[in-house]
Amino acid sequence: MESVLNWGGGKLFLSNYGFEYSRCGNPTRDCLEKAVAALDGAKYCLAYASGLAATLNIAHLLRAGDTVICTDDVYGGTNRYFSKIATQMGLKTVFVDCTKLECLEAAMTPQTKLVWIETPTNPTLKVVDIEGCAKIVHKQKGVILAVDNTFMSAYFQRPLALGADICMYSATKYMNGHSDVVMGLVSVNDGVLHEKLRFLQYSIGAVPSPFDCYLCNRGLKTLPIRMRQHFQNALAVARFLESDPRVEKVIFPGLPSHPQYEVIKRQCTGCPGMISFYIKGNLENASTFLKSIKLFALAESLGGYESLAEHPAIMTHASVPKADREALGITDTLIRMSVGLEDSEDLLEDLAQALKAAVPDNRIRN
Ligand SMILES: Cc1ncc(COP(=O)(O)O)c(C=O)c1O
Repeated sequence: MESVLNWGGGKLFLSNYGFEYSRCGNPTRDCLEKAVAALDGAKYCLAYASGLAATLNIAHLLRAGDTVICTDDVYGGTNRYFSKIATQMGLKTVFVDCTKLECLEAAMTPQTKLVWIETPTNPTLKVVDIEGCAKIVHKQKGVILAVDNTFMSAYFQRPLALGADICMYSATKYMNGHSDVVMGLVSVNDGVLHEKLRFLQYSIGAVPSPFDCYLCNRGLKTLPIRMRQHFQNALAVARFLESDPRVEKVIFPGLPSHPQYEVIKRQCTGCPGMISFYIKGNLENASTFLKSIKLFALAESLGGYESLAEHPAIMTHASVPKADREALGITDTLIRMSVGLEDSEDLLEDLAQALKAAVPDNRIRN
């Protein structure tokens, strides 16, 4: 049996159900792609060598002269890709606070071809109304709405059902969940969009190995129990931090104090283990906290079984210009945590001792 993919003058022949050459497709990747499509309520899914490889493939749907509107507070690597690399392909990116739908609407122009949102955003965990964005974006024919669903995972949020055209993941995080794979995933419903992406996946070649696909498939099998436990632990940590006098402010979308709590309740069924908070004091206090935690490892990644903490201004978001960081609230006292699957009592005990070590009693202000 032979099928043909057509796009942009290119023709891709897939023989034996697509398993002609492993970059083009292989049974293990096919199994993963089908499983993720089912989780996302999508017709199709494509797997990539990393989350950023998925972003690159999506950007290749565009042409020189096209404009991308990107949420202002995105993963630092996404910001770097759109502002420093995609520009070399002749793409222009404007960064907009998409939590304010009127700002998104005002930024749309005839040149806009892709709107990229991440929700919750990284690291300030702002929540973007996906359905609201879709209504604005689709007023203009041919504009693609892509949602980076890395933080929520398919378990808590299904962007395609809310009107997005593309649901994208860094599967390196919750979807795999075991911190042993780097991978990207993209789910779509539209057949033409799928055909274009399949052609780009094959032509660009940034695909995952069959073994990584096997590992990610293994990770998906425990997605519901992992996500429920992340949510439960994160809620306990967020409530604890909110009550601690050494903490200035806690940002967790699962708390009623979150500014977009109503949107979260509407579009998600729970929250992952991502919490950001401002510690009282300055960089020194933040740094002492990060040196004092024992159960939380100091590391950039997120979404694995183990608890991690990091300093966005120095680590994940160092590539975002300082002025932009400050405008977004990525200050010296902001700490981001990925709450893992450990016993929550142990996590709270660790946080309590690290906060005490970082902010002495006489520095607590009300
Ligand atoms: C929200 C988000 N999107 C995309 C990426 C990029 O994914 P990867 O590291 O798999 O390339 C990351 C990485 O941290 C991320 O946090």
